[in-house]
Amino acid sequence: MQLLDGVLVAKKIKADLLQLVKAEQDKGKRVPHLAAVLIGDHPASASYIKNKIRSCAEAGYESTLIHRDSSITKEGLLEIVDGLNRNEAIDGYIVQLPLPRHIDEQEILLAIDPKKDVDGFHPMNIGRMVIGLPAYVPATPLGILKLIEHYRIPTEGKHVVVIGRSNIVGTPVSLLLSRKAYPGNATVTLCHSKSTDLAEMSRKADILIAAIGTPHFVKADMIKDGAAVIDVGMNQIADPASKKGHRLVGDVDFEGVSRKAAYLTPVPGGVGPMTVCALMINTWTAYTGKIYG
Ligand code: GUN
Repeated sequence: MQLLDGVLVAKKIKADLLQLVKAEQDKGKRVPHLAAVLIGDHPASASYIKNKIRSCAEAGYESTLIHRDSSITKEGLLEIVDGLNRNEAIDGYIVQLPLPRHIDEQEILLAIDPKKDVDGFHPMNIGRMVIGLPAYVPATPLGILKLIEHYRIPTEGKHVVVIGRSNIVGTPVSLLLSRKAYPGNATVTLCHSKSTDLAEMSRKADILIAAIGTPHFVKADMIKDGAAVIDVGMNQIADPASKKGHRLVGDVDFEGVSRKAAYLTPVPGGVGPMTVCALMINTWTAYTGKIYG
């Protein structure tokens, strides 16, 4: 079984980005600049943002963190978004989700200038992606594509089964893998909580992508021998033996599945670092103006 090492691949891509940034600096140009908006003190969000800011430094980018209390009003947040849209020194920015319940996420995402939407969450970018126009692709799906590409996993004519239909992962990754491209040209089945024959379907997968949010949901008897299994799960479970009292596990039963799969992502260290790395790729794309000029 080949482990799909997201730490290693992300490190390589960030090192390549750093070289590109240095070449720009040598020409006297400024470096890419990513801003991140964090509202409240959701522990997982704070940890994701910390990783994103650290990755900026690794790629040679400038970063700005805007952190506000969860009591901020919708109008207050819209003002920040408007400021970032107008700020020419910022190439791209993200508004970390989830937002406090009194703020409508869709309203905020719609206010982000699509040119700066390096998360790829704006309907303009989603629509462009669907019809095959250049677009910012959401970070987790892009990270998964980069991982597949790095390990040269064949996708053409293969059966990909995606479990989970979220806007951020399941839906976009299923569309991307059916596109006329590599990675892509696959036959894709999108399963979800209302699917009745899930295990039967997942056993047919050459590539299985688990984005459910349930610890150890995918067991060895749900996969085909030799499948590539990509685990998007980030579930915190109680672990009295660990110092923190909890640990991170995926949606896949790693132990069991590793005996049958040909390729498998670990958690942590698989898709997680690739997601952050993909955000760095999108920020570079924003800096170069390749999508919107
Ligand atoms: N919350 C969980 N994942 C993400 C992500 O990729 N981007 C943002 N902005 N929020 C998230």
